[in-house]
Amino acid sequence: MRSCVGLRAMTRVRRLFRLLPVLLVAQLPAGLVSAAPAGDAPAVARERLLLDFGWKFHLGNEWGNGQSLAKSGSGIGPASVGFGDASWRSVDLPHDWAVELPFDPRADAGHGFKALGGAFPQNSVAWYRRTFTLPAADAGRRLWLEFDGVYRDATVFVNGWFVGHHESGYSGFRYDITDVAEPGGRNVVAVRVDATESEGWFYEGAGIYRHTWLVKTGPLAIAPDGIFVRGGFKNNTPGGPAKVQMETRLTNTAAVPAGAEVVWTILGPDGQSVATTRRPARVAGAATADVAGTASVAAPLLWSPETPRLYQLVTTVEVAGRVVDRVTTAFGLRTFAFDAKQGFLLNGRPYVIRGTCNHQDHAGVGVALPDRLQSFRLERLKEMGSNAYRSAHNPPTPELLDAADRLGLIVMDESRLLGSDAANLDRLERLVRRDRNHASVAIWSLANEEFTTQGTPSGKRTAATMQALIKRLDPTRPVTYNSTAGNDRAGINEAIEVRGWSYRIGVDRMDAYHAANPRQPNVGSEQGSTLTTRGSYATDRARCTMSAYDDNQTEWSNTAKQWAGFFGPRPWLSGGFVWTGFDYRGEPTPYQWPCVSSQFGILDTDGFPKDNFWLYQSWWTERPMVHLLPHWNWRGREGQEIDVRAYTNAEEVELLLNGQSLGRQKMAPFSELKWKVKYAPGTLAARAFRGGAVVAETRVETTGVPAAIRLTPDRAGLRADGEDVAAVTVSVVDAEGRVVPTANVPVAFTLGGPGRIIGVGNGDPASREPDVFVGAPAARARAIDRWRWKKIADPYADTIAEAAPGLDVSTWQTTDVRRGNGPLGPRERGLFRATFTVTSADLAAEAVELRFGKIDGDGRVFINGKRIGPGGDSRAASVYDVKALVQPGPNTVAVAIANYGASAGLSQGVELRLYDKLPEPAWSRSTFNGLAQIIVRTTKQAGAIELTARAAGLAPARLPLAAAPTTPRLSVE
Ligand code: GAL
Repeated sequence: MRSCVGLRAMTRVRRLFRLLPVLLVAQLPAGLVSAAPAGDAPAVARERLLLDFGWKFHLGNEWGNGQSLAKSGSGIGPASVGFGDASWRSVDLPHDWAVELPFDPRADAGHGFKALGGAFPQNSVAWYRRTFTLPAADAGRRLWLEFDGVYRDATVFVNGWFVGHHESGYSGFRYDITDVAEPGGRNVVAVRVDATESEGWFYEGAGIYRHTWLVKTGPLAIAPDGIFVRGGFKNNTPGGPAKVQMETRLTNTAAVPAGAEVVWTILGPDGQSVATTRRPARVAGAATADVAGTASVAAPLLWSPETPRLYQLVTTVEVAGRVVDRVTTAFGLRTFAFDAKQGFLLNGRPYVIRGTCNHQDHAGVGVALPDRLQSFRLERLKEMGSNAYRSAHNPPTPELLDAADRLGLIVMDESRLLGSDAANLDRLERLVRRDRNHASVAIWSLANEEFTTQGTPSGKRTAATMQALIKRLDPTRPVTYNSTAGNDRAGINEAIEVRGWSYRIGVDRMDAYHAANPRQPNVGSEQGSTLTTRGSYATDRARCTMSAYDDNQTEWSNTAKQWAGFFGPRPWLSGGFVWTGFDYRGEPTPYQWPCVSSQFGILDTDGFPKDNFWLYQSWWTERPMVHLLPHWNWRGREGQEIDVRAYTNAEEVELLLNGQSLGRQKMAPFSELKWKVKYAPGTLAARAFRGGAVVAETRVETTGVPAAIRLTPDRAGLRADGEDVAAVTVSVVDAEGRVVPTANVPVAFTLGGPGRIIGVGNGDPASREPDVFVGAPAARARAIDRWRWKKIADPYADTIAEAAPGLDVSTWQTTDVRRGNGPLGPRERGLFRATFTVTSADLAAEAVELRFGKIDGDGRVFINGKRIGPGGDSRAASVYDVKALVQPGPNTVAVAIANYGASAGLSQGVELRLYDKLPEPAWSRSTFNGLAQIIVRTTKQAGAIELTARAAGLAPARLPLAAAPTTPRLSVE
């Protein structure tokens, strides 16, 4: 049924008047833009506000795609301004709803058997809504809504207007919402997310799983991602001063040209200014202009993983001496190159890449990682001696790159897909523009293992096009592609600058290829793929475990010793990236259901190290260390031989059982030491020697039975900013406080104080316990029946006598609102009304909703005589939040309708729905081989948080965490 737009058009006219100040400012000459900023807006108009807090979330979709193709500004259902979302669940971003879903053997194994995708339509589309007020002073500013990543297929509405549709779950996107935003008024952002399709063969999550921002600028501003800063040296080798090139793209949304000056100030790692350069700029009306300058840094402090020193570029835009915009960009002074003989060169010197490939999920939170967890993960990798990170197989979240810049890891930044179609090139361009200032980003990767096309001429041409685009946008970094093509050069390998090797170690492959292509540099872009389970020393299909010894690989891959041993003597291979640093959900190899996680990680999904962590540490670090495996709890196997191994970076190791030496062995490069030891309970100890002196010792002890739970946070002091998290280790310990390495015990958690648990995990690749506990809302629905109606003259009046409470309507006609259509004939106008009763107890509900199955025609709703919300929706259910509008006792609901179609009225039922507060969920998780993890997030309130863990028969644990006052990031209130 078609809706009338007459009065709606009037509303638009009124809105236009409200927008006029914005339009007028946009017409002013550029000089005036800064001299007389609109309203109370400060001269520097830029603000970047986090838009993560206070969203409403609804899983499921009754509203199609939400978009009206007929009339602008009239989103359907939740996309409309007046939709009542009071009963929806409150969530803060980042949020991943896939992690909340149950496991299901019918679901896709690659994605971790989560009940998501085509077979689970009820779980695969969801809506998010966020309502906020914009200050009146925002009139005259440009307003941008930015999403760092939504998985996937996002349709975004602002104030009922469609503002954009973005498919890929891995690229950020932004919309200029200036025209449709309401400065000085209420604004509603609605996002429909459809995670039905997948982009990868691994767990990908679902929802707005990265940060969301509201960015405000003046009409003359630095364009989004409009800064490129790079430091260079003669011959791409540090020595002498660094030449820094700065490029800034300015955007002028005013209709008239703007004159400005761009000032670039470089701050050293100590925050002191080291160089300043200025350039005049002129930007035509409604145009962009690029401005470039150079500066010299006399005594550059180089960035490297070992010395992650960051410079800051402060880019300031001035108009007539007044600052109108300013952006600070962190960058590093360093050089990257690949040499066909020497391999990767960092700052002009050969530098072995000791990297890992990683997907982006973590235990408990799925892909929705708070920023602190990014650092937590990178810190674990650094501890292992890793110096590089490949973001497989998609661009990372920007905060991962910030952490890599700061902590010191070289990043291979990968595009999701090979393709020179316009959409893929656009994604690639946005990726390079977004990430090219990061100190850590050293290599671009075009794609991963494109089996169908990598050996074809079209694959070669496509790769060449993508590579050329990258080189145009960023001439400073090499480009690679993760290729499985063995020693075959035809196709992508012909076009690509650096040959990437996905497995395929061997003389007949790598050596043969290198001999045939001596001028092409190489990198081990994906190596290893060793299968191990943390703390399990038997390969057991029934329990989904792979022994934690470095013995098992897939048919296409290698153990750590195999690949590292092959790469070690071949510097031209540059080192490599192990598949993977962390276990991830999905790809449960070599098993299938009921196993749900991969087992390739050097650390498990929580970041608990498996034994291979120390194997790599023994090859990748210098500080003396020795590690022994397995654990020493083999009750029942007394006298039987146990396979004992030691990992060390020392020269020799002596093994001792209960004080008796079992002999010394010498370490060879990229190897391990092995003993067969007849089991006797007690202490197995290792002493590592360098030059005959003991430099490191370790031991494994037979523990007693589980006696208590222990809680150990990664940090006990947190920031009360609503974003900080503690990763808390839950261990089962014996009476002497030793972790019992075989304990699989269910543990229950409670939390008091200003914090909340956001996820739990245990690294068990077969665990199908929930990672997240979300209470189910209890709803009571009450049908509102016995409707009467009559024709009226003006359904558009603000006050309608027939809608007033207390009227005798017994002479009006009756109508059954549950039926399929209404009684109004063509061009008729009528008013429908009914009475319902609520009690004070009803009004204690968390949300009280009035829900019309269908308001057919152009309808407006009145409660107790007062008009509520905008018009009804003839295309979907109309939902109104009426908690504050109804009173104990009888209430009158009326709907005035003008019909512009065949027949109209109320249909498909009317209900009052009462929703109770979500019950506090009861959190729990079993330990796996002695350990589990809880992630605790702060609120913006400072204070003492107390986490308690209980398990049957064990002493409970209490952990105090302090949330200290801090200034949270600026965010939309
Ligand atoms: C590679 C692939 C990865 C993962 C891995 C498992 O071929 O690039 O995504 O599937 O195999 O070994």
